[in-house]
Amino acid sequence: MSRFALITPNADFDLRLRQAVAEGLYGAVHTFATDVIPSEPQNLFDQMNQEQPEVLVLGPEVPIDDALRLATIFDVRFPEISVILVAEANPDTVLQAMRAGIRDVLHPASEPAQIRVILERGCQAFASRQRTSEAQTGDPTPRGLVIGVFSPKGGVGKTTIATNIAVGLGKIAPMSVVIVDLDLQFGDVASGLDLDPEHTVTDAVTPSASQDSLVLKAFLTVHPASIYALCAPRNPVEADEITVEQISRLLEQLAGEFDYVVIDTAPGLTETVLTSLEHCTDAVWVTGMDVPSVRGLRSGLDVLRQLNILPSSRHVVLNMADSKSGLSVQDVEATVGAPVDISVARSKAVAYSTNRGVPILQNARKDPAVKALQRLVERFNPAWRLKAQRQQHRRVVVR
Ligand SMILES: Nc1ncnc2c1ncn2[C@@H]1O[C@H](COP(=O)(O)OP(=O)(O)OP(=O)(O)O)[C@@H](O)[C@H]1O
Ligand SMILES: [Mg+2]
Repeated sequence: MSRFALITPNADFDLRLRQAVAEGLYGAVHTFATDVIPSEPQNLFDQMNQEQPEVLVLGPEVPIDDALRLATIFDVRFPEISVILVAEANPDTVLQAMRAGIRDVLHPASEPAQIRVILERGCQAFASRQRTSEAQTGDPTPRGLVIGVFSPKGGVGKTTIATNIAVGLGKIAPMSVVIVDLDLQFGDVASGLDLDPEHTVTDAVTPSASQDSLVLKAFLTVHPASIYALCAPRNPVEADEITVEQISRLLEQLAGEFDYVVIDTAPGLTETVLTSLEHCTDAVWVTGMDVPSVRGLRSGLDVLRQLNILPSSRHVVLNMADSKSGLSVQDVEATVGAPVDISVARSKAVAYSTNRGVPILQNARKDPAVKALQRLVERFNPAWRLKAQRQQHRRVVVR
C-alpha cells in the first residue's frame, strides 16, 4: 500500500523523498512524475487503485494555485490526509497554504533527513485525525430567502444595490448571508466589496464543490461586514464554460446553507438570469429615472410574466431618483405597470462608496440614499414581512 503520494516532475526531489522513507519510515511511495495537479482527489485515487495515501506531497515545480485548490478540497473532504507543499515559501505562500489547510511547507532543496521529519509528522497527524468521512451529499432544504437583483438595462445600480442589501442583511444575520456575482463575464461585486478573492464561481461549480457543500463553503470569501461573497470568474473565457445546470445546482446548495442568498446579475434576460429567477424567492427590479431604463423594465416584466417565471415577491426600486429628471414617480409607475416600492436618490456619497469598494450601508453615513437602502433591507427582515402582509402599498415620494 502506498502511504505517501508525491506529485512532481522533479526526479531529484523524488529520489530524496524516497531516501527519506527508506531511512526510517515504513510504507511505499507513489510518484506522479508530472506537473499537472489533478482537479479532484478522486482523479488521484483512481490512479492509485482507489487507495488513499496518508500523506500527499505537492511539488516542487507544480502550479501553486492548482496545488492550493486541491489542498483546499482535501482539507474539507479528506481532512485526515496530511498535505505538504514543496515550494520556495515567501510569507504570502505560507499564509495561503495555511488557509488551504496545508500541514507543512518544505523547501525544494530539503535534505532527506528534513523530509523524513516532515513526513513522519504528517503520518502522526493522519493517525490522530483519521475519522469517518462526514461528506454532505444529500440535497439541502432551502433555509431562507434567495434575493436576485435584476434589470433589463445596464448601469442602473444593480451591483450597488445588491452589495448594500448583502451588507445590510449581514447586520441582521451575521455570517448567514452570501452574495453571489452571477454577472459572470463582467461582474464587479469583488470591486464593489474591495475583495481580492482566492476562489470564484469557477471553483464553486466544480464536481467536488457541487457534491459537497462543505467544499463549496471553503471556496467563499469572507468579507469584513460578516458576510460571504462568491465573486465572478476572473475572465470572460472561464465564465463561458459555466453551464446553467451548474448555476442551478450552486444556487440550490447556497439556499440550503444560508439564511440569505443575494444574487447580482448581468443586465438583460440572459439564460443565467432566467435560471436565477427560477431559484429566487424575491426579485428586486432596478430601474433608473430615465425613459429607456423604465421602458426596458416594463418589457422585461411583460416577457417574464408570459414565461411565468416571476418570483412570488417583487420589489421595484427606482434608483438615482432625481426630481429634475423630467419624470415623476407616477410616470415611472404607469410605464412599468407596477408600484415603486423604494426610491433611492441620486447621491454623490453612493457613487463615492462604490469607487472606494465600501458599500454605503457598511459605514451608515447620513445620506438620504442610506435611509432608502435601509428600508429596502428591512423588506427582507422576517418581522417586516409579517407586518407588510397586513399593510397596503404606500406611494414613495421623490424630493
Ligand atoms: N443612487 C445612486 N446615486 C449615484 N450614483 C449611483 C447610485 N447608484 C449607483 N450609482 C453609480 O452608478 C454606477 C453604476 O452602478 P452599478 O455598477 O451598481 O450598476 P449596474 O446596474 O450593476 O451596472 P452593470 O449593468 O454594468 O452591472 C456606479 O458608478 C455607481 O456608483
Ligand atoms: Mg453590475
